[in-house]
Amino acid sequence: MPVYKSDCFVNILLTGGMGYIGSHVAVVLLQAGHRVVLYDNLSNSDAGVLVRIEQITGKMPIFIQADIRAAETLADALKQHAVEAVMHFAGLKAVGESAQKPIEYYANNVEGTISLLEAMCKAEIRTLVFSGSAAVYGEPQYLPLDEMHPLSATNPYGRTKLHIEEMLRDLSASNPLWCIVCLRYFNPVGAHESGLIGENPVGIPNNLMPYIARVVAGELKELSVFGNDYPTPDGTGVRDYIHVMDLAEGHAASLPWLAEHPGCYAINLGTGQGYSVLEMVAAFASASGHAVPFQIVPRRTGDVAACYANPGKAGRELGWRARRGLFDMCASTWKFQRCIGLESCTSRAISP
Ligand code: NAD
Ligand code: UD1
Repeated sequence: MPVYKSDCFVNILLTGGMGYIGSHVAVVLLQAGHRVVLYDNLSNSDAGVLVRIEQITGKMPIFIQADIRAAETLADALKQHAVEAVMHFAGLKAVGESAQKPIEYYANNVEGTISLLEAMCKAEIRTLVFSGSAAVYGEPQYLPLDEMHPLSATNPYGRTKLHIEEMLRDLSASNPLWCIVCLRYFNPVGAHESGLIGENPVGIPNNLMPYIARVVAGELKELSVFGNDYPTPDGTGVRDYIHVMDLAEGHAASLPWLAEHPGCYAINLGTGQGYSVLEMVAAFASASGHAVPFQIVPRRTGDVAACYANPGKAGRELGWRARRGLFDMCASTWKFQRCIGLESCTSRAISP
């Protein structure tokens, strides 16, 4: 059931398109009638995603396994597939790891983006949707966070996102033909309703939702709740969790809008609603029918008490708002978690 139909930008290249968010965006774009090229080095994804996208959409996207820093391959991809717009998801995203390996993060995220922009300039493609992050707001000075909130970063990952945004603003100022939007994601969670694609981090998950899913699946013993002494209603951290399919639809909505808006813009993609860790635990238990064992442990370094969006600009500009609620976020995560435990996952969707 496609939500958006778009007749602008038929051919779209998605860097990092085999990853968690890119694969969901690919589904929405294919269903809306776009031709999609997934350009990914598979450093954090696997080729099986391609088959699953085809199972969902009935269409096989073009896939190129390569790094965005491989200038020639990228130039060929843009030319050969007559690409008209790029969505740039490729990047490293683990906050903790970015503090251990900052140069890898700058090389991959910042240098990778420079390589992409150079290739786009040469090919005269000037429409770009960039995967931004609420990490560029640093420690919130007020809530909800709107796009006017001062920018800063508290870790190297966030700083790569900030540097890239600054670079994109400079680029747009240098040439008025550029149409760029930095979509600042809050906390993407959930999976496609089929259970065929979702977030499947390698090793022990850092983020709350995949961690809970693995606890309920019996792969991890219990959830550690990082602190219950925050100035929030139940003392646990509050975040703006957004269903990945809502996020994907936000990307699709940005395309026709960008076609009429030269410049460089930042737009929040969030729900505007914050939920605490304990509310997430209760919601997951209700959606999965299984208790989520947990213990309270000390706060995690670098965490803030609360972070949620003012999503008003996305509504006004893109005509988009998040439609799916917490139950859907948890139920789809659980369905995907069960699906990855099944060998038959790639050949059929499982029932609810
Ligand atoms: P992901 O790791 O699942 O997907 C990223 C994809 O990019 C992977 O498939 C990986 O193999 C690929 N990739 C990485 N470096 C590459 C390179 N140099 N060349 C080619 N491919 C490369 O991550 P995701 O959750 O889908 O995130 C997508 C984007 O959204 C990232 O830029 C991330 O920083 C941003 N973001 C994510 C979140 C989140 O919570 N998931 C929040 C805010 C922003
Ligand atoms: C983290 C990153 C953020 C990034 C986002 C998506 C940090 C400080 N921030 O956001 O930059 O954009 O991931 O990748 O890492 N929690 C637990 N137990 C857990 C895991 C999390 O209690 O095992 C709590 C956290 O304290 C927080 C909430 O759950 O209150 C959400 O955490 P998480 O999913 O890691 O996302 P963020 O910290 O918001």
